[in-house]
Amino acid sequence: MAAQRGEFRSRLGFILAAAGSAVGLGNIWGFPTQAASNGGGAFLFTYLVLAFALAYPALMAELLIGRHTHRNMSQALGALPHHNGLKRIGMLTGIGGLVTASLILSFYGIVAGWMMGFATSYPLAAIGLTQSADWLITFSTPRNLTLTGVFMALTMSVVMGGVEDGIERWSRRLMPILIATLVVLSLYVLTLDGAMKGLSIYLRPDFSKILSGDLLIDALGSAFFSLSLGVGTMLIYGSYLSDNEHVPSVGAQVALLDVGIAVLAGFLILPAMYVADVRGVAIFNAAGGLLSEDTLIFSVLPALFDTMDTVGLWLATAFFVLMSIAALTSSISMLEVPVAYLIERHGLSRRRATLLAGTSIGAFSGLIALNFERLFGLVITISTRYGQPLLGIVVCLFAGWLWQRDALLAELKKNDAAAEQRWFWKIWPLYVKWVCPVIISVILVRSIL
Ligand code: PHE
Repeated sequence: MAAQRGEFRSRLGFILAAAGSAVGLGNIWGFPTQAASNGGGAFLFTYLVLAFALAYPALMAELLIGRHTHRNMSQALGALPHHNGLKRIGMLTGIGGLVTASLILSFYGIVAGWMMGFATSYPLAAIGLTQSADWLITFSTPRNLTLTGVFMALTMSVVMGGVEDGIERWSRRLMPILIATLVVLSLYVLTLDGAMKGLSIYLRPDFSKILSGDLLIDALGSAFFSLSLGVGTMLIYGSYLSDNEHVPSVGAQVALLDVGIAVLAGFLILPAMYVADVRGVAIFNAAGGLLSEDTLIFSVLPALFDTMDTVGLWLATAFFVLMSIAALTSSISMLEVPVAYLIERHGLSRRRATLLAGTSIGAFSGLIALNFERLFGLVITISTRYGQPLLGIVVCLFAGWLWQRDALLAELKKNDAAAEQRWFWKIWPLYVKWVCPVIISVILVRSIL
C-alpha cells in the first residue's frame, strides 16, 4: 500500500508545494488588508508572534503525524490512539478536516475566479475587447459561475496528475514566478510618491489595539488560515514526505517562507494604497478607516493602475496573475485532502476521486454563487474563524496526548540520530500538549463570547 502512495521527489519540491499551499490569497490579500484595518504594525507584530508561537508548532504536529502514518488525516488520527473510542474521534476529526477543506475551497474558488477574471480583462481591454473585459470584472452571477468553473477545472487537472507529476511539478513551476513577481511589484511601488507613508503605517505599531479581542482572533485566524492548518492539507503533504527528510527543519522553512511572503505582500499593498491616495483615489471609508478586503483589491488597486497608463496595464496584469497563481497552488492542496481520503479509504482511482470531489465542491461553490449574500460570508466564518482553530486544537491534543513518546522519538530519529538532544524534542512535545491547546482555546472562546 505504502509503495502505491505518491512521494515528493525532492526536498525543494516538498518545500515549494507546502509553501504553495500556505502562500495564497490569505497572505497576499487577507494579511495586508487586515493589517491595514487593525492598527498596522500592531497587527504585524501579533501575527508574527502567533505564527511562530502557535501556528508553527501546530504545523509541526500535522507534518509529523502525516509523515509518521503516511496516511490521510482521518486514517492518520485514527491510527494514533489505542483506545477504540479515541480512534473513532480521530477518524471523525479527519472527516471534519475534509469537510472544512472542502468548504474553504468552495468559497476560495469563487474569489480565485475573480482574480483570473481581472488578470485576463486588462490584456483584453488593451486589444479593444472592452465589452468582454468589462464583463470579467463586473460582479454578476453568470460571471461568478463561469470563472469558478474554469478555476475548479484547472485545480482538478493539476490534482489528477498526482503528487509528483501534478502537485510537485506545478508548485515548482509556479512558486518561483510568484515570488519574483511579488518582489518586483513591491520594489516598483516603493519608488512611487506616497509609498513611504504607507510603509510607515504598516511598520508603526499602535499597541493600544493589541489587546482587543478582535485583533487577536483575526491574527490567529489569519495565521492558521495562512499556514493551511487544521484541515489536513499539511498532514497529507507531510504524508508524502520521504522518511529521509528532517521534518522540524523543512517545516521551519515552509513557515518562514509563508510568513515572509505575507510580510512582503504588506510592503506592496499598504504602500500601494497611499500611492493611490496621492493620485486622488479614495482609500478611506466614511468612518475614516482604511478601505479593506474586496474594496481594496477590486476597486482601490484597479483605480491606482488606471492612473498609470501602459505601466498600469502591465502592473495590473502581473498583480492579478500573481493572485491567481497563489490561489491555484493553495486550492490544489485543499482538493488533495478529500481526494487522498477517497483513494485511500474507499479505493477509488485518483482520476475518479478527483472528479467526484472536484465536481461536488464545484457544485457547492455554485450554490454559494447563487445565494451569495446569504452564504458567502457565512461559509468563510464557519470554516476559517471557528473550524480551523477548533480542528487545530484537536490535532495538537492528539499529537501531545495520544502519540506515545517513544513512537514520536522514533519518528524524529528516522533522520536525526541525535534527535533526543535537540531543543525541538525538549520543548515541542510539552508545548503541543499544553500551550497550544490552552492558548488557542482561550482566544477562540473570547471571540465567541
Ligand atoms: N493557506 C492558504 C492561503 O493563505 C489557504 C488555505 C487554507 C489553504 C487551508 C489550504 C488549506 O490562502
